[in-house]
Amino acid sequence: MYNLLKGKTGIISGALDKNSIAWKVAEKAHAEGAKFVLTNAPIAMRMGEINALAEATGSQIVPADATSVEELTNLFTQSQEILGGKIDFVLHSIGMSVNIRKKIPYTELNYDYFNKGIDVSAMSLHKMLSVAKKLDAINEWGSVVALTYMAAQRTYPFYTDMADIKAMLESIARSFGYHYGLEKKVRINTVSQSPTKTTAGTGIKGFGDFYDFANAIAPLGNADAESCADYCITLFSDLTRMVTMQNLFHDGGYSSTGVSDDVMHRLGVENNS
Ligand SMILES: NC(=O)c1ccc[n+]([C@@H]2O[C@H](COP(=O)([O-])OP(=O)(O)OC[C@H]3O[C@@H](n4cnc5c(N)ncnc54)[C@H](O)[C@@H]3O)[C@@H](O)[C@H]2O)c1
Repeated sequence: MYNLLKGKTGIISGALDKNSIAWKVAEKAHAEGAKFVLTNAPIAMRMGEINALAEATGSQIVPADATSVEELTNLFTQSQEILGGKIDFVLHSIGMSVNIRKKIPYTELNYDYFNKGIDVSAMSLHKMLSVAKKLDAINEWGSVVALTYMAAQRTYPFYTDMADIKAMLESIARSFGYHYGLEKKVRINTVSQSPTKTTAGTGIKGFGDFYDFANAIAPLGNADAESCADYCITLFSDLTRMVTMQNLFHDGGYSSTGVSDDVMHRLGVENNS
């Protein structure tokens, strides 16, 4: 451990169970000396697993539906009370698409579900940032990280509406990053993570095959949730204080690789040439 977050405070959303990326971020942030509040949608709390994480990291839990400005206002207000002042970092680790859950093809999307997905998974970042800025709840040089996926840049058919939603999420990070950076020196970045075996990840049709495909392309293999958490910690730390408004790939080199020898071999290309 490096004490990278010693003296820092934050809010970590999205820890549903021990597979969640946010769960690993919370464990690492604790190990690096941070104090933080855990949050999730009230409905996710009922599963109760988050209590174990709160106990292990000495954290309090403040439930908030990330689509509710009122509940987010309560989250940032209460967090400052609990943590004794302004906070230094926020993790947005929230994603949900009813269209994906119901396996509705992209060309036949249900627009009520699409709107819901946008609200939960992208607009929630804007709402969090807007609430935080209004309350002046984040310290100068504070850092906000939201998790995203490369379908924002390239087409992955099974990712359906989440592709468009992640593009919006990344855009909000840039747009808000400008204003928040200029006025309060708060940094906002997105981390574009490899396919990861979590509740949200494995809910996607064909996830298992796709996971193997990405793993066969990336020279380092797929990045797991734990290494994603390590990367998030560096972004919360002062070592990355001039990094903002970026979409940062954390994917073992996948996004820069056209094709790998492994995939060519599996396609039997060597035999044909
Ligand atoms: N798993 C992957 O393959 C993968 C890849 C790239 C990016 N991501 C992103 O990482 C983030 C975290 O997902 P994960 O893979 O850890 O899965 P996860 O299912 O463990 O986490 C998703 C979280 O979103 C929360 N959530 C849903 N609706 C909410 C609401 N209205 N208000 C507040 N919270 C709400 C859920 O309760 C859950 O804790 C998501 O943004 C996801 O899109 C995941």
